Amino acid sequence: MTERKDLIVGNWKMNSTHLEAIQMVQKLFYRLVATDYDRVEVVVGPPFTSLRSIQTVIESDSMPIGLAAQNVYWEAEGAFTGEVSPPMLAELRVGHIIVGHSERRAYFGETDETVNKRVKATIAHEMKPIVCVGETLDQREADQTAEVLVTQVKGGLNGVPPEDVAESAIAYEPVWAIGTGRHADADTAGVGCGLIRSTVAESHGDEAAGSVRILYGGSVSPGNIKDFMAKRDIDGALVGGASLDPDTFAAVVRYWE
Ligand code: PGA
Repeated sequence: MTERKDLIVGNWKMNSTHLEAIQMVQKLFYRLVATDYDRVEVVVGPPFTSLRSIQTVIESDSMPIGLAAQNVYWEAEGAFTGEVSPPMLAELRVGHIIVGHSERRAYFGETDETVNKRVKATIAHEMKPIVCVGETLDQREADQTAEVLVTQVKGGLNGVPPEDVAESAIAYEPVWAIGTGRHADADTAGVGCGLIRSTVAESHGDEAAGSVRILYGGSVSPGNIKDFMAKRDIDGALVGGASLDPDTFAAVVRYWE
């Protein structure tokens, strides 16, 4: 079986000025002293306005912490007022881009088609997408969870070469578990992530499915991360609220201690 390195990503959402962001990443780095970075890849996703300052801090102190953006537009340049393009992010050494977060789908009109365009644009500029999928509470109660996950995974990855899917990540984030303190139990999360992996196997082959990293997201905390990470198909976490406090996020990253 493919060895999949743990991936823990902090999604800061619309929080922190660039000065606060610098402090957060510096504190996080100190809290993570002696962390085995061969075992876990640590990534922070601040707002666009903080990417440049955090990049500078990470590089000047040689921090083994990766940088993610929370969104991207699919064109490289042009008359798209308010948007940020893949080359702009690549130039800031952004390694990952969170694409199709449920908040973007719910509030900003993202669809599987626009998610797919962003995924392809991310890959075309040598960054890695973290494709977010997940059912709402209504969909879960109507027994549509499997259908929603399969549709979102296939739609988001449509036409992406298997070798690029292998390098990507998919985050299973049940919408009802995000920011609610009501996390999915580990079995439910494990089943969702397993379904995502088998969907990738069907659409892109076993090799891609064996390599793609699948993260759980939704009210992840130091108290529950260990249970999620024990599941075969869960390779990491996309962490919102608990990533804003460096002590708490460091405890999530070092979940095995
Ligand atoms: P949460 O957010 O950890 O605050 O639930 C997760 C996410 O939206 O990525």
